[in-house]
Amino acid sequence: LTLSPHLLCVLLQLCSLQLLVVAMPTCRLLEDVVLNTHHLLRDLGGAFPVQCLKYNINISFPDSAFPASTANHPQCRQALWVVYETLRETQLLFEDFELPVGEGGVSWDRKKLSSFQNLQDRLLEEGSCLSTNKTPDVLSPYFSNVTAVVQQQGSAACGWMALRRDVLWVLKTALREHHSCFTRRGRH
Ligand SMILES: *[C@@H]1O[C@H](CO)[C@@H](O)[C@H](O)[C@H]1NC(C)=O
Ligand SMILES: *[C@@H]1O[C@H](CO)[C@@H](O)[C@H](O)[C@H]1NC(C)=O
Repeated sequence: LTLSPHLLCVLLQLCSLQLLVVAMPTCRLLEDVVLNTHHLLRDLGGAFPVQCLKYNINISFPDSAFPASTANHPQCRQALWVVYETLRETQLLFEDFELPVGEGGVSWDRKKLSSFQNLQDRLLEEGSCLSTNKTPDVLSPYFSNVTAVVQQQGSAACGWMALRRDVLWVLKTALREHHSCFTRRGRH
């Protein structure tokens, strides 16, 4: 078999095109994975403790991060970014801080928490290109505040509870009000 220089050139171009497609980060979040992530977080156990209400002043999620509607592509992208960035910052907190255990600590179902974190990792991988958002990072003051509360021994448990409440709200709101932005299985 001898390849003409021309054919070789075409083949090489096809190969590099395929490599490009493989290496391109994806921007999709699968709706059913987001739904399962929500359910795992919801089912970790325990209600929001009354004694943590006082930290609502420190930890109040900026509701306006979500677009008012998702009629067009930039709005969808913003809605998906809110989900992506919330999960990414949450993952960083899990990496940087231990959950407080024992009395006054956080008694979440460890198995469900670990399943939640697996799905979180998967969503962050599949949505990785969402990280390149051009709009200002409206979530960073919120996460600085969460970090401040989680960092202090006396308030750590409340910080985690408030974070869980808010991540649940983000996932629920995205699924309810911006569901058309998610990717459904079998539809690309
Ligand atoms: C951050 O905490 C301060 C109080 O320390 C509060 O005034 C502010 O609203 C909080 N911001 C967010 C986004 O939670
Ligand atoms: C909560 O915010 C207040 C100011 O509003 C601040 O004095 C306090 O240190 C903050 N608490 C924590 C745990 O960060």
